[in-house]
Amino acid sequence: MKQSKNRAHTFAEHVLKVNHAGENGAVHIYAGQLVFGRLTAPGLVAELREFRIHEETHREIFASELRRRGIRRCRSFVLCAIGGYVLGLMTGLFGRTAIAATTVAVERVVLAHLREQLRFLDGSDAEAAAAISHIVADEQEHHDRSATHAAEGKFWPAVLSPVVEISTESVIWLGMRL
Ligand SMILES: [Fe+2]
Ligand SMILES: [Fe+2]
Repeated sequence: MKQSKNRAHTFAEHVLKVNHAGENGAVHIYAGQLVFGRLTAPGLVAELREFRIHEETHREIFASELRRRGIRRCRSFVLCAIGGYVLGLMTGLFGRTAIAATTVAVERVVLAHLREQLRFLDGSDAEAAAAISHIVADEQEHHDRSATHAAEGKFWPAVLSPVVEISTESVIWLGMRL
């Protein structure tokens, strides 16, 4: 009994660290997209700024949960920032449907992980589950609003979706093992 409780605790700590790093990645994706997006997708700028503010709030939710538990941030924290920023810069260069397709692909993977995390943590770590529950509605909104923009094009969603999904899965997989 004690052992399974410890295991659940360790899983919760991993999840909080990975989510914290992931939100840092998300902040930097939008920051990167805004660099060229101002020129290539002016109609998305207000929305990208709005999403970036959500991601900063999400990052703070996980940061404060880590602080409260005395846990250090994930070693993938800086990697997420760099990777996110590069992904944001590149997709921002390609314009509106590339930007939106990136968000759809990232959020699809993220939402699946968040729901799985909630299933595991619901009975074992109420605070961690609450932190995750807070952000799910925002991520769903980012996904849904971006999906309507991405549907305006065929090329970038087809090209970017598999690449971005695999990259996002890999970062989460790596983060859970660091
Ligand atoms: Fe987020
Ligand atoms: Fe998001």
